[in-house]
Amino acid sequence: MSIETLGVIGAGQMGGGIAQVAAQAGIKVVLVDAQLEMAEKGRAKIASSLEKLVQKGKLPESERTKILSNITPAGGYGSLGTCDLVVEAATENQELKKKIFSDLDRATSPDAILASNTSSISITLLGAQTKRPGKVIGMHFMNPVPVMKLVEVVRGLATDDATYQSIVALGERFGKKIVTAKDIPGFIVNRLLIPFLNEACFALQESLGSIEDIDSGCKLGLNHPMGPFELADLIGLDTCLAISEVLHDELGDDKYRPAPLLRQYVAAGWLGRKSGRGFYKY
Ligand code: 3HC
Repeated sequence: MSIETLGVIGAGQMGGGIAQVAAQAGIKVVLVDAQLEMAEKGRAKIASSLEKLVQKGKLPESERTKILSNITPAGGYGSLGTCDLVVEAATENQELKKKIFSDLDRATSPDAILASNTSSISITLLGAQTKRPGKVIGMHFMNPVPVMKLVEVVRGLATDDATYQSIVALGERFGKKIVTAKDIPGFIVNRLLIPFLNEACFALQESLGSIEDIDSGCKLGLNHPMGPFELADLIGLDTCLAISEVLHDELGDDKYRPAPLLRQYVAAGWLGRKSGRGFYKY
């Protein structure tokens, strides 16, 4: 199935990024959040991100107008009935995502594909909340979505071949490289990344080095573009903790236990860039 109309659930940093790359690829996007004002705020962020590209001479003004005209903000699921695909990019919370999938099953055409941008939650479980588990799939984008070249495609137990092929073709149309992962918690990227970020928190807890020295060690010693604390702040510490908990609970191995320091930062509301303070102050 060729995807021409897309619904995105969640107008935060991931949902906004997904809406932007889709609109840039000429797809009509309905950007949904709980309230219309939140969806409008998401669209305004995309507008300012595109404005920066115009100022750098990387995007003609006419193209910016065209891309923005492809994005319609909405405060609810009322206008998803004509979408070929809906990508859910809500908070990383299993109960919330289960409810969204069950609601989307009623709000969309039975032929529509339902994808989740989940970082770690089971696609098979989300598919089981619908009457179309064959059309449920993981489409995991990386942050910041417009810049990062990867999309991880995750097949649930019931995901059918046609759905998989449509999503691979769409990711390629967005200009992304596709990797395919099994529906095992964390998939490929977060199975490797989150234990690394968590270990950096244990190291800090043990005063192995300062935040800056641990970050510099990884940036200059390993050629990582960001140190683990800079990256955790970008992702959101609440999201890092939520993924850590899924890995720990679902894989049942103590090596995935979240660092107490990470829990403490989240409890303090120090969630990273989005809250103005994480390991660094913004
Ligand atoms: N939106 C759009 N464009 C952005 C952007 C954003 N949020 N952030 C940066 N950019 C663009 C800049 O405009 C710039 O474009 P240009 O080269 O055309 O001028 C380019 O990206 C480079 O940006 P900067 O010069 O400001 O800064 P850096 O060179 O330091 O790059 C970075 C910033 C791309 C974020 C880089 O530091 C990086 O790659 N960091 C690692 C990011 C990463 O690992 N992401 C994956 C996280 S894991 C994940 O998302 C999975 C989830 O489930 C947890």
